[in-house]
Amino acid sequence: MIPFLDLKAQYLSIKPEIDAAVMKILESSQFVLGEEVAGFERDFAAYCGARHAVAVNSGTSALHLALLAAGVGPGDEVITIPFTFVATVSAICYTGATPVFVDIDPSTFTMDPSKLEEAITPRTKAILPVHLYGQMADMDPLLEIARRHDVAVIEDACQAHGAEYRGRRAGSVGVSGCFSFYPGKNLGAYGEGGIVVTSNDEHAKMIRMLRDWGQEQRYHHKLKGFNYRMEGMQGAILRVKLRYLEQWTEARRTHARHYSKLLAGWVGAEVPVEAPDRRHVYHIYAVRSADRDGLQRLLQAEGVHTGLHYPIPVHLQEAHADLGHTVGDFPESEAAARQVLSLPMFPEMTAVEVEQVAAAVRQEAYVV
Ligand SMILES: Cc1ncc(COP(=O)(O)O)c(C=O)c1O
Repeated sequence: MIPFLDLKAQYLSIKPEIDAAVMKILESSQFVLGEEVAGFERDFAAYCGARHAVAVNSGTSALHLALLAAGVGPGDEVITIPFTFVATVSAICYTGATPVFVDIDPSTFTMDPSKLEEAITPRTKAILPVHLYGQMADMDPLLEIARRHDVAVIEDACQAHGAEYRGRRAGSVGVSGCFSFYPGKNLGAYGEGGIVVTSNDEHAKMIRMLRDWGQEQRYHHKLKGFNYRMEGMQGAILRVKLRYLEQWTEARRTHARHYSKLLAGWVGAEVPVEAPDRRHVYHIYAVRSADRDGLQRLLQAEGVHTGLHYPIPVHLQEAHADLGHTVGDFPESEAAARQVLSLPMFPEMTAVEVEQVAAAVRQEAYVV
């Protein structure tokens, strides 16, 4: 059996440091925010090349607060892609704004800049590109269009810790960037977690207040806030794990190169593209197949666990039927949703396991 990911193997590889970090929290009783969270914020801001980082309790909360800090509210529109995890769109809805979709570039699964301008209206307040699977969107053309229309760009970097675009790190390119530390992410907590990274002092100050009931000072509530604070335990664990992130990312990139070499040119499974100006961090390694469901069933029979990210684009989800979209509105997103299959990908995988998965795919591709 080859699992899709193996969180236990990673824990065991750093167990003494993690156990010590957890003990430190138990002994200090700093269960919510506290010194370890503050230390992690400093470390993560530096890692991203941004001035501030504000730790929260999920990637969804990070997106919600980053949008509020950019002034997004009822009556506004926020542009994003439909081929993403539903949280991107839910966070827009939390603010009272309306999500507006732009289709993806089929080679990178990220926002197609050539389709952005036609989606902008006088109500557009922000653009929320998603760095899907760990590869950053084509940011320069998006930023240029945003600048001309005076709208904010916020990065959904929930899958892209350490990804780069023309030498710039995810999270440091837009006015702010939002990350998730859900356990399976490239940098995963042992529970829920998220963070907003920004070099804008005003946004950082507002997000810091909003995550903690809108208070600047205890019991002085300047804003209508939320309980979105990060737990001390997660901060302490993430601080340890951040020290290994580059090493883990390089392992993912090695596995991806290995997969792509073994699967190159094979009919029935198209390998992912890393754009030449980007550093893909391979949160997900997704191949495209015309018979995706058949390939998944056959891999399952061979003991290879796979995933679907994501089988239904958000514009066709029942929860967002009120937006009034139908099949055919975003053909590239719909085609991707039918064809993508995520292969096992985690740093602790061995080269032999990569070879076993690739051999199974090649064998099944014949059947296709
Ligand atoms: C692209 C994207 N956006 C937002 C989120 C939401 O993050 P979280 O699950 O931490 O709320 C996730 C992760 O699940 C994600 O993959």
